[in-house]
Amino acid sequence: MSVVALVPAAGRGVRLGAGMPKALVPVAGESLLSRAVRGLHDSGRVRHVVVAAPADEVPAVEAEFASLRSFVHVVPGGAERTDSVRLALAEAERAVPDARVVLVHDAARAFTPPSVVRDVVRAVEEGAPAVVPVLPVADTIKQVDEAGDVETTVDRSRLRTVQTPQGFAIDVLRQAYAAAGDIATDDAGLVERIGGKVSTVPGHPHALKITTAFDLAIAEAVLA
Ligand code: CTP
Ligand code: MG
Repeated sequence: MSVVALVPAAGRGVRLGAGMPKALVPVAGESLLSRAVRGLHDSGRVRHVVVAAPADEVPAVEAEFASLRSFVHVVPGGAERTDSVRLALAEAERAVPDARVVLVHDAARAFTPPSVVRDVVRAVEEGAPAVVPVLPVADTIKQVDEAGDVETTVDRSRLRTVQTPQGFAIDVLRQAYAAAGDIATDDAGLVERIGGKVSTVPGHPHALKITTAFDLAIAEAVLA
């Protein structure tokens, strides 16, 4: 089955505060975006990648992927992540009309091991309409009231944190986005809203999302 991947990379990276779009921030000489795309490539399961880049950075991002020109296509992203995914999905459907599986993978999860990509693709190929990589929750979770006082301690045994790539039968993601409103940060959540089943596979600690300078420091330490 042909697999395409959408990489939303058009965010500004305000919380990281690097003075440039987060996806373009280098770690040991290679940008987060390049690392994320390389992980997809190295999985051996992805035929084509569509990157949604910051609109004013499209030429620079295209240049970065010059050696992968037949593998990576760059489109300008939108104001919200939802817009960026929508634009990338439209381009992916145009470029690979026979694609049956689509992955959505945040550039910010630059260190995701290729094995996670393979596990997600395999689960969709085996029939799951939507698949997310997850990890158990390590911390104790408490629910508080508006004053910050604890109401209850939540049973965390069935809670999971969600990573990317998230994988979908392409028809399912198309339907979910057709029904979606303006802003959604979780693609699988849109599938839940249209009544679709979402399955899980084990995620990986290295698939952490780089949000703050602290996260970047952790990633650099892991790489060293
Ligand atoms: N993203 C995107 N288009 C947007 C906003 C976000 O493609 N309009 C992408 C980001 O580039 C990132 C992913 O969605 O790869 C997850 O978003 P987030 O971690 O919030 O990144 P930023 O929006 O760049 O960071 P911040 O919210 O701190 O500005
Ligand atoms: Mg953001």
